[in-house]
Amino acid sequence: MFYIIVIFSLFFSAYAQIDSRPVIHLPPAVAEVVKQITADCLAETKAEPEVAKRFFELKFDKDEISKKFLYCLTRKTNYVDEDGHFNDGLITLFDSSDRKEDVQKRPVVPLPTIVLNEVKKAASECIKETGANKEVADNFFNLNFSSDLPSKKFLYCLCRKTNYGDEDGHLNDGLLTLFGESDRKDDVQKVLESCNKTKGKTNVDTIHQTVKCFYKNTPVLLVI
Ligand SMILES: *[C@@H]1O[C@H](CO)[C@@H](O)[C@H](O)[C@H]1NC(C)=O
Ligand SMILES: *[C@@H]1O[C@H](CO)[C@@H](O)[C@H](O)[C@H]1NC(C)=O
Repeated sequence: MFYIIVIFSLFFSAYAQIDSRPVIHLPPAVAEVVKQITADCLAETKAEPEVAKRFFELKFDKDEISKKFLYCLTRKTNYVDEDGHFNDGLITLFDSSDRKEDVQKRPVVPLPTIVLNEVKKAASECIKETGANKEVADNFFNLNFSSDLPSKKFLYCLCRKTNYGDEDGHLNDGLLTLFGESDRKDDVQKVLESCNKTKGKTNVDTIHQTVKCFYKNTPVLLVI
């Protein structure tokens, strides 16, 4: 059990400063799964959120509810065997690319060809204008929103040119029309509105954070 707790804890280090161990970033897909399972187990065991919080702070309470929660989490994640060893499930998650896992977990809406062509045209203009290299553009098309400055500038340029982003680095309603056929459009809208409140140091930071937030949280993925 110990190691998986360490890993979970590292992910939830926002809850607590654990110690000085190096931080492993869980792939977003795994993090999402853990979050979902935590929510499910809280509901199932009727535990207070405090129970999960203490668990991720490595404080193992001995009361019945805390034990039930721990058991639920272990069972549902299926990543640990009876003896407390990792099984292959966890390894698989780490082997996979972030994007593959994400795509497998969420329904997808393909970008209409006409929009894709606009995005491609904008991308080639933005490569010229921002001096970004091809890798920067490739990363974008792989939905890998890197936080280096050239990538952020490229993203900002692209959002401006396609008109999905405003000058301050916020996303507009235009993006929602792409989810027009989805029955989860309302949920997409909620995520968009919430992520849209992000404010970075510069407009280039703002768009980067907003897009990342949206991609991480939207229940429906746009795929190219
Ligand atoms: C995303 O882009 C960064 C920066 O170029 C790179 O280091 C990283 O390997 C890429 N991640 C994936 C999953 O392709
Ligand atoms: C995002 O915020 C900007 C300004 O802060 C606003 O103009 C725009 O309508 C918002 N977009 C959405 C989709 O809510």
